[in-house]
Amino acid sequence: MSPSKLLSIPENFSAHGGRVDHLIDVVHWFMLALGAGWFLFFAFCLIRFRSSVNPKASYHGVRNHISSHMEIAVVIIEAVLLLGFAFPLWKERTDSWEQVQKLDPVRVRVIGWQFGWTYHYPGKDGKFGRIDPLIRTSNSDPAIDLNDPNAQDDFTSPILKIANGRPAILNITSNDVIHNYAIIPMRIQQDAIPGKEFPMWFTPTKTLETSVVCGQLCGEGHGNMVGQMEVIKDDAFRTWAETESENALKAHASKVTTASR
Ligand code: CUA
Repeated sequence: MSPSKLLSIPENFSAHGGRVDHLIDVVHWFMLALGAGWFLFFAFCLIRFRSSVNPKASYHGVRNHISSHMEIAVVIIEAVLLLGFAFPLWKERTDSWEQVQKLDPVRVRVIGWQFGWTYHYPGKDGKFGRIDPLIRTSNSDPAIDLNDPNAQDDFTSPILKIANGRPAILNITSNDVIHNYAIIPMRIQQDAIPGKEFPMWFTPTKTLETSVVCGQLCGEGHGNMVGQMEVIKDDAFRTWAETESENALKAHASKVTTASR
C-alpha cells in the first residue's frame, strides 16, 4: 500500500505525474523512518538515563566527537543530494522544455483574474497576437490588440481544452493579483503573476473532464475561482481549434471593415 493511495490523491492523468506520486510515497516512507528512528532514540534515552541508575548528574556530558562527525556527514549527504540529484533533475527538466517545443504542443495563454480564468489560443498561425494592457476593458479581458496581424485568428475560450497525448504549454499570467493555476489530476501548478508570463507544460495521457483551482489566496472570491478543463481526442481538438480560429478570423475581419468605413 503506497501512502499516496492511502491519502486518496486523485488519479493521475499526466505523463510525468507518476513520478510526482512516487516522490510523495518516498517522502512519506522517509518521514515514517525518521519518526520511528527518533522515537526509538527517545525511548533509549528514557531507559539509559533513568534516575535509578544515574543518581548523580554528569557535568561533563559527551566526551567524544561523534556529534561533529555526524554534522560533517549530514553536510556531505546534503551536498550529494544537491549536486548529484537536484542539479541533474533540474537540467533534465530544462532540456525537456527544448524538446517539448518540437512536439507540436498545444499552446494556450492562461489569464487569471479576480475571480476566474480566461484562455487565449494563438489560432491557426500558432502565434499569439500582441497584448496591450492599456486596451483592457474588464478584469477578464485578455487585452488582445486586434491591430496586430498575428491576433486576427486568435480566439478565447471560457474553458481550457487541450489534446490527449500532445504536450500542452500553458503560459500563465494574471490581470490583477497573484493567483496560482493548479491542475491536480495533472500534478502541476504555477503562480500567475501580473505583468509576467510563465510557461508550464505537461502531457495528458487520458481524456478527461475536470476542474482547475486557484492555489493562492487571492481575495474573497478565491474559493470560487474554479475553472473547467477538458482533455479531448487530438482530432476533435484540431477540429474545434480550427473552427474557433476561423470564426474569430471572420468576426475580426468584419470589425475591421466596419471600422474603416
Ligand atoms: Cu485566484 Cu485564489
